[in-house]
Amino acid sequence: MEILSYVICIFLFLLATIIVSKIIVLKNIVYKEPKILANKKVLVVYYSNNGNTKNIAENLKSVTGGDIKEIELNEKYSDNIFKMSKLVRKQLKEGYLPKINNIDISGYDVVFVCSPIWDFSISLPVKSFLKNNNFENKIIIPFFTYSGGAGKNKLIKEIENLTGNVNIKNPLFMFENGIILVKEQIINLLNKLPNNIEN
Ligand SMILES: Cc1cc2nc3c(=O)[nH]c(=O)nc-3n(C[C@H](O)[C@H](O)[C@H](O)COP(=O)(O)O)c2cc1C
Repeated sequence: MEILSYVICIFLFLLATIIVSKIIVLKNIVYKEPKILANKKVLVVYYSNNGNTKNIAENLKSVTGGDIKEIELNEKYSDNIFKMSKLVRKQLKEGYLPKINNIDISGYDVVFVCSPIWDFSISLPVKSFLKNNNFENKIIIPFFTYSGGAGKNKLIKEIENLTGNVNIKNPLFMFENGIILVKEQIINLLNKLPNNIEN
């Protein structure tokens, strides 16, 4: 019993050390604009049902200095999560794309496309946005918020199917809630973006 208490104490101590050192590293992080964004007109587009993706998008805008536009639905989903989930599942199965506001992406070189994950897929309003626009000669950087998981390859395939063969970078991911130092975590992700458009 005593040995078990020691093991638990050591484990908790190590865990606390790891968390504190991660926080210290993040607190001191500095944004180094990746070449892929240098001298580019950046647009951050997002859909958010509960605010997580909105928070990420606003931080992305503030770090990159780009513009921001929200995807809005003509007909909002129910506030009742069970009703909403049921409808989303049905719409995903049917390949339904909801009606959204027009977003003008002309004049931008890089578009951050920010979406929650819905049933291991891109959220439906963001699918509509991807389908409605022409991304020729633009770079798409997908940014997903999630609570459990989704496969990166499937998400990229979905974007390819909706947009045609355009320049899509590896998606960035952020866990939904309880995120500390959001801005610093975003900087950390952006600093890892490819430095070369071809990458
Ligand atoms: C209908 C629905 C389906 C979801 N499916 C998934 C999922 O398959 N995988 C996952 O990791 N998170 C899933 N989530 C959680 C959301 O992706 C996560 O909470 C996200 O941060 C919500 O973003 P928002 O606050 O901007 O709406 C789902 C949420 C909803 C509402």
